Amino acid sequence: MNIKDIMESNRDAWNQALIYHQRARNNSLQIGFANHEFTTLDRDCDNVLIEKIIKMNISGKTISQMPCNNGRELLSLMRFGAKEAMGFDISDIAIEEAKQLAKISGLNVKFERVNILEIDNKFNEYFDFIYISEGSLQWFPNLNDYFSIVSRLLKANGEILIFEMHPFAYFFENGFSSDNQNLEKMISYFNKGPFNYKNGIDYVGGVEYEANECYWFMHKMSDIINAILQNDIRILEFNEYNLEMANNESIKHLEKFPLSYILTGKK
Ligand SMILES: C[S@@+](CC[C@H](N)C(=O)[O-])C[C@H]1O[C@@H](n2cnc3c(N)ncnc32)[C@H](O)[C@@H]1O
Repeated sequence: MNIKDIMESNRDAWNQALIYHQRARNNSLQIGFANHEFTTLDRDCDNVLIEKIIKMNISGKTISQMPCNNGRELLSLMRFGAKEAMGFDISDIAIEEAKQLAKISGLNVKFERVNILEIDNKFNEYFDFIYISEGSLQWFPNLNDYFSIVSRLLKANGEILIFEMHPFAYFFENGFSSDNQNLEKMISYFNKGPFNYKNGIDYVGGVEYEANECYWFMHKMSDIINAILQNDIRILEFNEYNLEMANNESIKHLEKFPLSYILTGKK
C-alpha cells in the first residue's frame, strides 16, 4: 500500500472516530469555548506541560499544532498569549468542528484540512512555535518526512514542544493485557508495524465499533530523536514521565515505566 492510500484510509478512520468523540462530548466544548477562561489542558498530566509552556513563553508568537484534531488544545494554548495560531489536520470532521470552536471562542486561530506531509509552501518559515501532542507521531510511517515538514514551517530560532505518549506506552498498548500478562503475546518494541485499531479510536467515550481500516506505526525513542536532529532542530530538553495520557486503563498502573515525555527543541 502506498503512503497516499495509507493517509486516505486514516482520514476515513478519523472521520468515523470523530462522530463518536462528538457524541461522547455532547457539546461540552462548544459550551466551554464560549467562556474565555475555558481550557482543555486540565488533565493531571497537563501540569508538566503548562510549566514548560510558561517557561518557553509563547506570548505574541505565531503558533501551530500538527495534527490538531478538533483544535481544542491549540485554542487552549492561546490563553498563554500567542498572537495567532494555525492548526492542521487530515480529518474533515475534526477541522469542521475546530473552525466552529474557533468561531465560538473569538480567538485568532485558523484551521486547514490537509495531510501534514502536503502542507503548502506558503507556510514555510511561518511559525515561531509548533506544538505536537499525544497520538500524533504514530500516523507517519517515516518520521524524517514528518520532521522535515515541521522544520520547513519553523522560522529560524523557532521552537517545538512535543508532549507525546512514550514509545513504551505504545509498546504496552500493543498486545499487552493487565489481566493476562503474557510476554509471548506482546509485540516487539522494534516492530514498526503498521498496526490497526480494529475496535476503533474512541478514546473519548470508550465505545468499541467496527473501525474503518487505519494504519499506525511504532517509533522507537531513538527514531524520534534522530529524525528531529536530522532536520536541523537542536534538542533543548528531554524529560520522561510516568504520567498516562490517553485514559487507557490497561496501562494506567504501569507507573514503573515511562509513559509520556516532553521534548523541546530549537531550529
Ligand atoms: C490523537 S489525535 C492527536 C491530536 C490530539 N492530541 C488529540 O488527541 O486530539 C490524531 C490526529 O491525527 C490526525 N492525522 C492522522 N494522520 C494525519 C496526517 N497525515 N495529516 C494530518 N493529520 C493527521 C487525525 O485526523 C487525528 O485528528
